[in-house]
Amino acid sequence: TGDVTLDVGFGNTAACRSAITYIDGDAGILRYRGYPIEQLAEHSTFLETSYLVLYGELPTAAQLAEFTERISTHHLLDERLKEMFRLFPRRSHPMPVLAAGINALSTFAMPPVSLEEKTLEQQTYRLMAQVPTLAAYGYKNSLGLPTLYPDESLGYIENFLRMSFGVPSRPYEIDDTIVRALDVLLILHADHEQNCSTSTVRMVGSSGANLYLSVAAGVSALSGPLHGGANQAVIEMLQQMRDTGESVATFVQKVKDKKSGVKLMGFGHRIYKNFDPRAQIVKRHADAILRERPGHDELLDLALALEEAARSDDYFTERKLYPNVDFYTGLIYQAMGFPSNMFTVLFTIGRLPGWIAHWREQSLDPATKIGRPRQVYTGVVQRDYVPSDQR
Ligand code: CMC
Repeated sequence: TGDVTLDVGFGNTAACRSAITYIDGDAGILRYRGYPIEQLAEHSTFLETSYLVLYGELPTAAQLAEFTERISTHHLLDERLKEMFRLFPRRSHPMPVLAAGINALSTFAMPPVSLEEKTLEQQTYRLMAQVPTLAAYGYKNSLGLPTLYPDESLGYIENFLRMSFGVPSRPYEIDDTIVRALDVLLILHADHEQNCSTSTVRMVGSSGANLYLSVAAGVSALSGPLHGGANQAVIEMLQQMRDTGESVATFVQKVKDKKSGVKLMGFGHRIYKNFDPRAQIVKRHADAILRERPGHDELLDLALALEEAARSDDYFTERKLYPNVDFYTGLIYQAMGFPSNMFTVLFTIGRLPGWIAHWREQSLDPATKIGRPRQVYTGVVQRDYVPSDQR
């Protein structure tokens, strides 16, 4: 078919050059700007890692303090934007509400959106600061509960947890174990090179669309169950197994029978073929956190049994299917008190610095061109119009 190569799903086509994230899928290596994910998960914080992903270097103490302050003073939403939440039905899924909120942010942007460096910085702070506020408001809206204004005296994670779980009538008690666990989970999600949502952000941005609109498109891409939506799908799969009493062996058999259309959610990855380094870190945290919280370990035991069964089954080993980052995260989010429809929203907050970094990298790269894949046409090449009374 002429000069085009068919590569369905972009399995082997690089669309850009990027200096943000390095992955070696066979060796299970993930590094942001050269720093191993294991070291960042152990020593860094989400805001420090965000700075690294966005600007390429770990910040000095002064740089981090300035970055943190810039973000903490931008959490408030315009009151009119806040009104938007009332228009959504109760029980709306928080992902489309978040996408709508981010699209709406661009209409409130001051100064108006442009590619100028100073404006780009403003947009970066606003997105980093206001996406958690939008996320918490979307959550409160889905429950029909009153929203809480952000508290800029709190840390990034503490403020988000308070906006999510606090109520106006009493002080919110901060649980340091939960704060650190969420911090680590967000670090693990901060970037993952050209995944579906990041490629979407780049694709939309390549037309010259502004950062807010590009990021909102990323939220839509992330919501799907094959991508970020997998964390919700995993917990629903585990709950269904628990509630119906279906055994691990029967479920695995169903997955292997392709006709069933059932997948083992949270398993498999386009790039990682031996293990997902993020999943290993999440699994350790899940074990530590859930064992401390009786009542939450039943689903963990089920997940561990599923992993065990898959590891010793040819179907999974031959196809190199291992737990991915989404397999154990939902269990931790649930233990924190989040309902399953919020899990992908939490992934979104984590992935935000990556999306912004890619959008900025692309917009500064003189080699950038509008994204425009080719196709292999399989339809009728030409035929003549027939009037309807002759068809
Ligand atoms: N359960 C059962 N079979 C699977 C699974 C699974 N989870 N994943 C892949 N396979 C099979 C697939 O049917 C195919 O079999 P065959 O060769 O017989 O046709 C083979 O493994 C290769 O899979 P693929 O679909 O060609 O692989 P892909 O690289 O196109 O898809 C994936 C990657 C992540 C979309 C896929 O593994 C999947 O659907 N996993 C479940 C959803 C999930 O957990 N997604 C989260 C991904 S990681 C974080 C993120 O991106 O958000």
